[in-house]
Amino acid sequence: MDKLLINGGIRLDGEIRIAGAKNSALPILAATLLTQETVEVCNLPHLYDITTMLELLGCMGVQPIIDEKLNVEVNSSTIKHFNAPYELVKTMRASILVLGPLLARYGEAEVALPGGCAIGSRPVNLHINALEAMGAQIAVEDGYIKARTDGRLKGAHIFMDLVTVTGTENVMMAATLADGITTIENAAREPEVVDLANCLIKMGAKIKGHGTDTIVIEGVKDLHGCSYSVMPDRIETGTYLIAAAATRGYIKVKDTRPDILESVLSKLEQVGADIKVGDNWIELDMHNQRPKSVSLRTAPYPAFPTDMQAQFTALNTIARGTGSITETVFENRFMHVHEMNRMGASIQVEGNTVIVEGVDHLKGAPVMATDLRASASLIIAGLVSDSETSVDRIYHIDRGYECIEEKLQLLGAKIRRVPS
Ligand code: EPZ
Repeated sequence: MDKLLINGGIRLDGEIRIAGAKNSALPILAATLLTQETVEVCNLPHLYDITTMLELLGCMGVQPIIDEKLNVEVNSSTIKHFNAPYELVKTMRASILVLGPLLARYGEAEVALPGGCAIGSRPVNLHINALEAMGAQIAVEDGYIKARTDGRLKGAHIFMDLVTVTGTENVMMAATLADGITTIENAAREPEVVDLANCLIKMGAKIKGHGTDTIVIEGVKDLHGCSYSVMPDRIETGTYLIAAAATRGYIKVKDTRPDILESVLSKLEQVGADIKVGDNWIELDMHNQRPKSVSLRTAPYPAFPTDMQAQFTALNTIARGTGSITETVFENRFMHVHEMNRMGASIQVEGNTVIVEGVDHLKGAPVMATDLRASASLIIAGLVSDSETSVDRIYHIDRGYECIEEKLQLLGAKIRRVPS
């Protein structure tokens, strides 16, 4: 396993391009199972999770064709079976996204129950309840979700007890081929859900209300192929903006979308960043000023995203003042806090809130990544530390950030990957 070595104390300064959104690409790749025709998916990020999803399609007998730019053509007419094995699901929970499409198109699916992960138990009860309301018979046994339906799924009026991103996506995909109309109340409003809906509409689906908390899908008999380009990754965008702000630097991020980052950009302005935006770029300049502490509370979109909570915690560790950060989406998303305190940060955990008292400097130390976004926050902590930080178990980071050390090197960071 590799690790990243970082020598901190350098202001980031430069421009980078943003990759396609992991959390949009994954459901869109699953949606290719909904048609027998070819779907071309472009702007895919070069990430382990994308490879895992392509492997999952491959193990079912669907052979994606990948070109040198990692644009992928998928034609699922060669599918052989409808099983998603534990060996793959355990490495990527988002494998659950094949459940809805397989049920809708083939009437059966056997998907390993995704285990919990570092950030929480991550149940999928809402996915299962909704699909049962659409007529699926589902048993959870031997660690597998065994689902089947006689004939087509039926449209249903579904109220999601909690806002769930992949739960909304699974049901929306299943509903595109159901008999009748499906209404999803308390639906997730994340931009990635909207991106998936736009791809499904290009495939011939009839969807309204995507981006609001009520999505209405009128089932059709068949969907056809299309070519679709995945939206930019807002979490990657925010992570680099926060890294530049924490190091008192300058950054221009290109091939991105400022309109889906409003809550993050407003927090960055509160830390004292000077921000300019264009159609597909964002410029941040700290003018070498120390950031001010901010307080925030995560919640489903359009509120502040949970996937950027750890990164802002890292910024607060060296900011001026004290900030509180409350996590309302996942029950255990503070694993990075103890590692940062080992670097000299002053963070108290009080239930689902951390109180971060800004210190002048962090000290580099060997730290360990536990989940995707915590890894990114430890890299930011390393960038603002004196001396060297080594971040171990960075397979977490490779799941969600394309070529992170190359992009940070482009920004002037002293960071390199070494075998651990
Ligand atoms: C998606 O996960 C993202 N992953 C996560 O990003 C993101 O953190 C999360 O949404 C919240 O925005 C993908 O899109 C692939 P949820 P998801 O269902 O869909 C509870 C990253 O870093 N819940 O919206 O799994 C759940 O426990 C990843 O890229 C149930 O109780 O999250 C959580 O507390 C990490 N029962 C809350 O809902 C269910 O059936 C929100 O989870 C489903 C969810």
